[in-house]
Amino acid sequence: MKKFKKLFTALISTATTISLMTGCAAGNNQQASSGSSGGKDGKIVVGFSQVGAESEWRTANTKSVKESAEKDPQIELKFSDAQQKQENQIKAIRSFIAQKVDVIAFSPVVQTGFDTVLQEAKTAGIPVILTDRAVDADPSLYKTMIGSDFVEEGKKAAQWMLDNVKTDKPVNIVELQGTVGSAPAIDRKAGFEEIIKDHTNYKIIKSQTGDFTRTKGKEVMEAFLKSNGKNINVVYSHNDDMAIGAIQAIEEYGLTPGKDIKIISVDGVKGAFEAMMAGKLNASIECNPLLGEQLMQAIKDVKAGKELPKWIKTEEGIFDTTNAAKEFPNRQY
Ligand code: AHR
Repeated sequence: MKKFKKLFTALISTATTISLMTGCAAGNNQQASSGSSGGKDGKIVVGFSQVGAESEWRTANTKSVKESAEKDPQIELKFSDAQQKQENQIKAIRSFIAQKVDVIAFSPVVQTGFDTVLQEAKTAGIPVILTDRAVDADPSLYKTMIGSDFVEEGKKAAQWMLDNVKTDKPVNIVELQGTVGSAPAIDRKAGFEEIIKDHTNYKIIKSQTGDFTRTKGKEVMEAFLKSNGKNINVVYSHNDDMAIGAIQAIEEYGLTPGKDIKIISVDGVKGAFEAMMAGKLNASIECNPLLGEQLMQAIKDVKAGKELPKWIKTEEGIFDTTNAAKEFPNRQY
């Protein structure tokens, strides 16, 4: 009888343990379905969707994000490259939602068309952080945007031109635009136009996208030279890579970049510094890609329930042929 009692007690206690464990598991599942799975060793799992690998700037940005994540013991990064296609980016975000990551971060290829997927992330309880580029969407759908003021960059480029290409004669400008519909292409154009609008001798005579790449920048510049040749006075390029492509096209056409045609671009990557030191590029407005550490901090702050400013702005400078050589040794990208 004693033996039977012992066995009975043991059975009851095992059953209680099993039921507690099951209850626990159910609790975890409930938590997971509200968006947060938690990574290995309690790490914050972050799904990051990058635009692509279109430029020197982007390569530096990817390196900064990956290295900052690797260095941070609290972060586990899942990285996805959208290859400059919005549909790939939307797929990646949906896959992050399905994997129940803790935070989603992405640099939007274009400015519009993300409302539905952002709403899906919100419904799943997964906070979203934007890096580098903004979206046109209800601000309640993301926590913050870490990146540059692209309108300001366009204004700085135009102001540099007015200060350094001073004349009352007509100035014919050709513009190499970034990816159609992307925030930097829209804003850099708007900022530049805003500054030149009262200076009627400065005119944009041609404007076309070079998709932020060297190859397309060169192709578009070749077409501009074919149609307008020696009438072109200034190239305004939305990034350094397209400007470097344009420099090649100008040289092949038989003109001297930086002298016959002044060239102003945006980013401030090492390739642009080399071109400025060679006198082929006149100015580059800085756009800082080293956003990794700020992103990791924002992720931890969001998970800790801190309110973040809707826009964490990056500080940036202006470089030209007068200060490029002095600055070059300090450049990190
Ligand atoms: O969004 C930032 C822009 O994207 C950079 O200026 C450009 O080089 C990149 O491809």
